[in-house]
Amino acid sequence: MANDEPVNTGEVNDEQVTPEAISELAKRRGFFFGSSEAYGGVAGFYTMGPQGAALKGNVESAWRDRFAVKEGNQEIEAPTIMPEPVFEASGHLDGFDDMLVECGECGESHRADHLIEDETGIEEAETLPIPEVEALIEEHDLRCPNCGASLAGRPVEDFNLMFETSIGPGSGQTGYLRPETAQGIFVEFGRLKEYARNQLPFGVAQIGRAYRNEISPRRGLIRTREFTQAELEQFVDPERDEPSLDDVRDVEVRLYPATEQEKEGGDYLETTIGEAVETGVVANEWIAYYLGIAKRWFERVGVDADRFRYRQHLPGERAHYASDCWDAEAELGSVSASGDAADRLATDPSAGDWVEIAGFSYRTDYDLSKHGEHADESFTVFEQYDEPKTVERAVVDPDMSALGPEFGAEATDVADALRDLAALDPDAFGGDEVVVEIDGEEYAVPTDVANFRVEEQTESGEHVTPHVIEPSFGVDRTVYTVIAHAYARDEVDGETRTYLRFVPEIAPTSVAVFPLLSNDESLTALAGEIADDLREAGLSVAYDDSGNIGRRYRRQDEIGTPFCVTVDPEGVEGTGPETATVRERDSTAQIRVPVDELADELAAVRRGRKTFDDLRAAYGAVETADA
Ligand code: ATP
Ligand code: GLY
Repeated sequence: MANDEPVNTGEVNDEQVTPEAISELAKRRGFFFGSSEAYGGVAGFYTMGPQGAALKGNVESAWRDRFAVKEGNQEIEAPTIMPEPVFEASGHLDGFDDMLVECGECGESHRADHLIEDETGIEEAETLPIPEVEALIEEHDLRCPNCGASLAGRPVEDFNLMFETSIGPGSGQTGYLRPETAQGIFVEFGRLKEYARNQLPFGVAQIGRAYRNEISPRRGLIRTREFTQAELEQFVDPERDEPSLDDVRDVEVRLYPATEQEKEGGDYLETTIGEAVETGVVANEWIAYYLGIAKRWFERVGVDADRFRYRQHLPGERAHYASDCWDAEAELGSVSASGDAADRLATDPSAGDWVEIAGFSYRTDYDLSKHGEHADESFTVFEQYDEPKTVERAVVDPDMSALGPEFGAEATDVADALRDLAALDPDAFGGDEVVVEIDGEEYAVPTDVANFRVEEQTESGEHVTPHVIEPSFGVDRTVYTVIAHAYARDEVDGETRTYLRFVPEIAPTSVAVFPLLSNDESLTALAGEIADDLREAGLSVAYDDSGNIGRRYRRQDEIGTPFCVTVDPEGVEGTGPETATVRERDSTAQIRVPVDELADELAAVRRGRKTFDDLRAAYGAVETADA
């Protein structure tokens, strides 16, 4: 190739990265697009094209590697449809609602809290009670975004987001498409604890589809009706189990605590995980641990740390099961984080367009206790004491020959109630008579008939309902963020190019291989062999012999392929080993590498064991034009 001056003249900083630009690229290059368009399409459903599916697969593999394999957790795959009683127990039937307002004119449905946020600047409007939301719609004279009619006076209602279905023929059994993957883990707790040998702490991960009948799906992959979650349910004994905080103490995080959100002009807290725990800003150590692990993971897959923060939920915002929750949020607005925009993003929490991409909830023992109440199984773990303990237990041994004649059919219930009362409130047996309540009715029993006494008992352990810490990732939102944060423009050969700066680990295509000339048999044959070798090494490879070389580079730049290998006459001439050039996407710098070393070197970069700079140091740069 020609020995010209390098041609990459640097980033174009003043360009705007709009959601429209991302959607256009995504559709044109096969990342994602609206589904079923041949039939007019339906809002909220997206198909991942070839690049998108590969990118998403790589993000999922990186998540599995970090949150299942490296954490030593199990992974399961549960069904996406579950019977109604599961969601009665979990609270989703009663409480999994969003606020709906319907336009009286055109009939279009809207999420009332989002309309308020969009039009008034009020944040987290979902925390407001319905009457206040109705009043705000009236006060600000909010209008239907579809037809412009006034929404003042329209009722705001709770709308349950679950998709209902019927299981089996005929009237069947009512089921629901799961709104979160988590319930598939909780309901199998009995077996899963056995696989963990009944030892807390243990974690169970799952990557799978979740479904929510969103009132107004929007922004491409950000709010869809079917999406992929990657969730980890970490089961712990809160009195005893501690995470390995030392592993993440130094991780730097930008926190936006609830107290700062509630203040006028509240600020970010730039801190470390260690400090956040010591100062109590993050109250739960397990949550803090996973915030640290996740921060590193998000950076690993290419989320820009300057456009990333953790925001704590406001009290009214938390899901029905959570006692604390922090969201990982990514900035997805139209401004790339450089210059003044970057300064503003770093210092002003109201700047930027922030979207939740993952949530970290402390679910306490809520879910397991609820399933314990509703299902026929135990959702506890028996924890053995180090040494058996001698404890004093209040017990009763009711005299049924006295209770029977006195209470007839209720006698057994009265005896059970006496046993429960002895365990809960031994002092109640201090007088001549003890009173128990059953279904609102009181029954008085002479204390000597109850046969109350305090006994010494030896116990080897106790039943504990584990608490749950849940990192819950939206895979599609993460994929969208990775694309948005990778999106870049610069000038090469006097032309503006668009490219995606994916990290090698998640780039959908790892390497593209080109013969410089498509009509030269020696070049095409060698390029074909190289492509086979690279595939054999586990890399995803594109082969392209059409069009001029500059256009081939641009095509790969636009889908974020980190390296292009070009087989040129210089590499096959002479008596030395055959060579090919390797061009790195962002710098457009090129090196010349012996063909039989290519697969090992590029696979090492893909796995993060080497960088392109290591290769440049080893092989030296060659100066070539990019076109
Ligand atoms: P939002 O407030 O944006 O509706 P959420 O608080 O309801 O989100 P969670 O219930 O915490 O979200 O769900 C866990 C994760 O699942 C989220 O962090 C997000 O990444 C993803 N997720 C939730 N709803 C959707 C959706 N409709 N489309 C795509 N991803 C979603
Ligand atoms: N599992 C958390 C959520 O989906 O809400």
